Amino acid sequence: QTIEDFRRDLLDWYDQEGRSHLPWRQNQDPYRILVSELMLQQTRVDTVITYFNRFMDALPTVKDLAEAPEEQVLKLWEGLGYYSRAKNLQKAAKVVAFDLKGNWPESYDDLLSLPGVGPYTAAAVASIAFGEVVPAIDGNFFRVFSRLLKIDDDIAKPKTRRVFYDIVEPIVDPKRPGDFNQAIMDLGTSYMKTKDPDTLHSPVKKYNAAYRDGVEEQYPVKTKK
Ligand code: ADE
Repeated sequence: QTIEDFRRDLLDWYDQEGRSHLPWRQNQDPYRILVSELMLQQTRVDTVITYFNRFMDALPTVKDLAEAPEEQVLKLWEGLGYYSRAKNLQKAAKVVAFDLKGNWPESYDDLLSLPGVGPYTAAAVASIAFGEVVPAIDGNFFRVFSRLLKIDDDIAKPKTRRVFYDIVEPIVDPKRPGDFNQAIMDLGTSYMKTKDPDTLHSPVKKYNAAYRDGVEEQYPVKTKK
C-alpha cells in the first residue's frame, strides 16, 4: 500500500464517521480552534463541549477575549483547572487583537511565539485553521503511529517528538492537513484507543504493523517516570 491509499482510507472514514458535529469543527476560525485546543489538553471532549459553547457565547471573538475582565475569563474556565492556561490564552488574545491588530500569526513557527502555545497547539492551529502541512503530535498521535509503523522510540523522552515528526510529516495529507490531524485524534480515541482497541474493525487495519505482528498493546513504548 502507498501513503496515498492510507490517506484516502483515513479521510474517507473521517468524512463518514468522524466527529464532524464537534462545535469547534464548524468553521476554521483560528480563535475557536485555539480555545478548543487549549481546553482539550486537559479535559475530555464531552466536558469541553459545554465549556466551549459557553465561552464562545460570552466571548465570540478574539477582541472580546482581549478586552474581557480577567475575572470573567477565569469564571468561564472554572472547573477546567489549570488557570495559567486561561491567563495565557487571554495574553495570546491581547497579542493578536492589540499588538497584531487582529492579524493572526498563520504559520507554525509564528504561532509558537504566542503565550501558552507549545508545539502541539501551534501545529493544531496551523493545520486546522491555516492549512499548514504539519503533524499535530499529542498522545493520540504517538499511539496511532507507533502502532501503525512499530516505532520503538520511548515517548517519555523529549527527543522522540522529533523522531515522530520526521517520520510522519511526509504522511500528513498536503491537501487536508487539518482533517488528517483530526482524523488521527478520532482514530486514537476510538478504534485505536489505549485499552481494548478495536483494530479488527479499524478503517486503517491493513496499515497496522503492530496488529499484524500481534504486539499492538506493546505500543507506544513508554518508560515509567
Ligand atoms: N483533542 C485535541 N484536539 C482535538 C480536536 N480538534 N478534536 C477532537 N479531539 C481533540
